[in-house]
Amino acid sequence: MNDIMSLGIHRLWKKYFVDLVLSKHNDNEKILDIASGSGDIFNLLPISKNLYALDPVSEMHNISRKKNNSKKINYKVGYAENLPYKKNFFKIITCTYGVRNFKNRKIGFSEIYRCLKKNGYFFIMEFGIPKRNLLKSSYKNFLKYVLPFTGSIISNDRYSYKYLADSIISFPSQNNLLEELINTGFFHIKTIDFISGANSIYIVQKK
Ligand SMILES: C[S@@+](CC[C@H](N)C(=O)[O-])C[C@H]1O[C@@H](n2cnc3c(N)ncnc32)[C@H](O)[C@@H]1O
Repeated sequence: MNDIMSLGIHRLWKKYFVDLVLSKHNDNEKILDIASGSGDIFNLLPISKNLYALDPVSEMHNISRKKNNSKKINYKVGYAENLPYKKNFFKIITCTYGVRNFKNRKIGFSEIYRCLKKNGYFFIMEFGIPKRNLLKSSYKNFLKYVLPFTGSIISNDRYSYKYLADSIISFPSQNNLLEELINTGFFHIKTIDFISGANSIYIVQKK
């Protein structure tokens, strides 16, 4: 889905994302990837220890295990809204294309805040609606009409692609998302937009 949504560019965005994560990492600290899926982020990270992956779907972990077989990753099946870790445990928590799926962002963000150490970083990457007006309307039409149609042809799964489109359209604006993070207690470090916000990286810190 990510490949179709981004015409494959999400792989470059993930590489960029991982380089940002690396710039804040130090070898003895632990990193948690939430909504880790099939393990792309840890696959790209040139780190092989102190890695923790959480996803509600155990089959995703099985794919990740094969992909990341040279790495020592602690896998857990679970939800962002109920993290099975102690407080102040991680220096870095990442979540790529997962926040959109949280059932309750407020609880998810508070759980992430609880499990981060003081001065720890939360990195998010998520699809959004471009800010530029011309792009905005054509992109919304792409999401509403082209994406579900393409999905039904490629994978015979119109429903999943419609869910993807709806979840992007109903995702909060950047300002609203940042407000939710700041209300949780995070300090905003920076937001990096690609294609005028069709994809964005948010970096926030626990103070
Ligand atoms: C689009 S995939 C992203 C996977 C991976 N992070 C990537 O970038 O390739 C979204 C993932 O979110 C997971 N997910 C859904 N609801 C979740 C929740 N409430 N908490 C944590 N992960 C969730 C799904 O199981 C799925 O693996």
